Amino acid sequence: MNKIASSEDKTFSYIPDCSDLPVDEDADYVYICENNTIYGTKFKELPNTKGKTLVADVSSCFLSEPVDVTKYGLIYGGVQKNIGPAGVVIAIIREDLITEDVLPGTPTMLTYKTHADAGSLYNTPPAYGIYICGKVFKWLKKMGGLEVMKERNEKKAKLLYDYLDQSKLFKGTVEKKDRSLMNVPFVTGSDELDAKFVKEAKEAGLENLKGHRTVGGMRASIYNAMPYEGVEALVAFMKKFEEENL
Ligand SMILES: Cc1ncc(COP(=O)(O)O)c(C=O)c1O
Repeated sequence: MNKIASSEDKTFSYIPDCSDLPVDEDADYVYICENNTIYGTKFKELPNTKGKTLVADVSSCFLSEPVDVTKYGLIYGGVQKNIGPAGVVIAIIREDLITEDVLPGTPTMLTYKTHADAGSLYNTPPAYGIYICGKVFKWLKKMGGLEVMKERNEKKAKLLYDYLDQSKLFKGTVEKKDRSLMNVPFVTGSDELDAKFVKEAKEAGLENLKGHRTVGGMRASIYNAMPYEGVEALVAFMKKFEEENL
């Protein structure tokens, strides 16, 4: 593996310029994690792969907005954020990449051809999880599809980001142009106050606001299933907390 871009210098708070990366001529593919669930960044523009196949982990932005699948060789993601219960993975792979030409020693089970040839029924599938995913797909269609999900998600995220941008207590941690619609990390600047916020929010019925254990602070994950009213409730609580603690 060859790391060709990183924002580690600023704690992964932005997406590096990926318009002219040193893509190795021998590279098999260029890989991105399109929406970083932990740091709350999102590729708004795909990298210039210089002709190489693009592979993307889209676990935390799957079905949050329309996607042009023709731009990728392989898209994959766990369904556990926007689609259904943990235990199911969806892979969308270009047909010419489904081959027997895999690294020597690759287990049968980890070879895409195995699953493609068997109609995704090589092993016993997690039928219940897939059934729930089907229900969510129908719900998505009924809601108006991915264009409507995008609008809903933009409206939801804007409410929270607008509040963060004028707050004197809370601060979003990601550069504006690279902000995720799904995961919104923020901090007060004080570990003590962050902990107090998470505790009091929980008491007020606002769950799971603690940031990922590797970064601390707070993180609001506002996936498809989170209604606008949920974000309104969070912002109202944040305003109240700000008034009481500034
Ligand atoms: C973007 C992304 N990739 C991968 C994973 C890991 O998924 P799993 O725990 O199903 O391996 C997650 C989190 O669940 C994620 O957000």
